[in-house]
Amino acid sequence: MYTAMLGAHGGFAFLAMILTLGWAALVLVAPKPVPATGPSPLQRGVYGGAMGMTGLVGLLGLVMVMMGNWAGAGFAWVGLMLVVLHAVAGARSRRALASGAKSRATVLAALQVLTLLLSWWLMVAKPF
Ligand code: HEM
Repeated sequence: MYTAMLGAHGGFAFLAMILTLGWAALVLVAPKPVPATGPSPLQRGVYGGAMGMTGLVGLLGLVMVMMGNWAGAGFAWVGLMLVVLHAVAGARSRRALASGAKSRATVLAALQVLTLLLSWWLMVAKPF
């Protein structure tokens, strides 16, 4: 059971990374004037997917902390903080894009990618 969860956690983390990179790319290529129709279905889908998938990775991680006795491992808690930071940066990035602040939206989306890269390294290296 634990092995299956570890596989799912890693697999979903990969998907979260692809979707977050996708969101960052969509922000980067978004037209500067905000369309009156609001975000496109593609933007909505990729944004929602990136946020939902990362949340799922965090939830699975929490369950694994309980099951695998990782509560004393600092890397897991820093990972959790990074998941929260990913969510906050994502929500702000979406709002910034909707208000036409494209550069700000891009920086925030890049921050999201960074949180995932850092989490990934933490999980594999387990430095503390
Ligand atoms: C989006 C952020 C995250 C990413 C990208 C991520 C990614 C990964 C990856 C790739 C592994 C496998 C490492 C290996 O094979 O050695 C892993 C393991 C693990 N993750 Fe995460 N993770 C994230 C968030 C979290 C959170 C928030 C928690 C807990 C609250 C957590 C708990 C764990 C634990 C306990 C392991 C170790 C499992 C083991 O080696 O048996 N992860 N994570």
